[in-house]
Amino acid sequence: MSSDTLFTHPFGALTLRRWPHLRDDPLRAWDGADRYLLESLQESSQEIPAEQGSTAPLLILNDQCGALTLALIGQRPVAASGDSFVAHAALEANAADNGIELSALDWRWADQPLPAATAAMIRVPKELSLLEWQLAAVSAALPAGAPVWLAGMDKHLPRNLVEVLGRYLDQPQAGLGRHKARIFHGRVPASPVPAPAAAWLDLPEQGWRLRVDAGVFSRQQLDIGARFFLQHIPAGIDGDICDLGCGNGVVGMMALKQNPAARLWSCDESALALASARDNIGRTFAQRDVQFHLGNGLDGLDQQFDLILLNPPFHRGHAVDDSVARMLFRHARRQLKPGGVLRVIGNAHLDYLTVLRRQFGKVTQVARNSKFIIHDASL
Ligand SMILES: C[S@@+](CC[C@H](N)C(=O)[O-])C[C@H]1O[C@@H](n2cnc3c(N)ncnc32)[C@H](O)[C@@H]1O
Repeated sequence: MSSDTLFTHPFGALTLRRWPHLRDDPLRAWDGADRYLLESLQESSQEIPAEQGSTAPLLILNDQCGALTLALIGQRPVAASGDSFVAHAALEANAADNGIELSALDWRWADQPLPAATAAMIRVPKELSLLEWQLAAVSAALPAGAPVWLAGMDKHLPRNLVEVLGRYLDQPQAGLGRHKARIFHGRVPASPVPAPAAAWLDLPEQGWRLRVDAGVFSRQQLDIGARFFLQHIPAGIDGDICDLGCGNGVVGMMALKQNPAARLWSCDESALALASARDNIGRTFAQRDVQFHLGNGLDGLDQQFDLILLNPPFHRGHAVDDSVARMLFRHARRQLKPGGVLRVIGNAHLDYLTVLRRQFGKVTQVARNSKFIIHDASL
């Protein structure tokens, strides 16, 4: 069943879709937290001295598909920042669908400094480490006392959010619930709060130290699936290898180690994942030929590959969903060289075998343990 696309809000209405566009996408492109944030802004418009002649923008963080940015961009100067290429592409696609011009938008990826702004409006991201990173950046970019609103859907909010906010904002408060969402408020403190330290993972058996930035997959310890995958990275390739959905870059690092003459493309839709991968690969394999690609899967790359390595996501936002994995399989099929191979790891219960068989001529099992299966797929 196709989802509802009409988003009515205090300043007007927008037609919003998720991106990439999927047939009968069950996920809506906006939610009660977006509406609640816009209502709160309208209700407290006295508080933000932006409208009359000021050029300092309102800063929007982690807008999911453009609901906040597109509702406000005609009303006042707006700047926005986020980590996800897919969310940014949704913003652009929805702007085009609604005939809204984005050239005046000051956009920053999550690994770039934030611009000065009069106030901030934040969708609480799934990863609390990303929120903490962003709150520290907000405390450095905005003047003391500037208001900061945050919101999320009740079912997705961490219990200790007010406590976390108290480390970065003055007077943190939780507001009332509305639209199954909750709003929080605080003010930028007098002095900037230092950004939380990046996480580091040690792989003593390889002599590697991995930097894992805020919000990047498996920050506490190396993912157990990735650990199993690392034992099954092919050798003997002197052509082009892709680490698709590279996260901190560790799978590509093993591919570089096993294949001293190969070139590597590390690809992810998260700006902070790519920043981590660039740092980790740069410190360990400085002399090697490695490209980094921020994008949706392999879109925007013409390169064909001898080997594509993939530990796919099985969530879209908070929802368990294999549509991203299926899309990445299609991208891999499109961009394998003749004779090239897609090597995929998945949780044993996910049944990627059936999905891969629909898309590839030949699928074989390479390895399995109690939790994971690794398959090779080729045309
Ligand atoms: C399960 S993690 C694997 C990370 C890393 N390869 C590992 O094994 O530790 C999946 C990765 O896919 C990335 N990802 C999700 N959707 C994507 C998309 N549409 N295009 C590219 N990468 C994506 C996520 O940001 C995440 O880093």
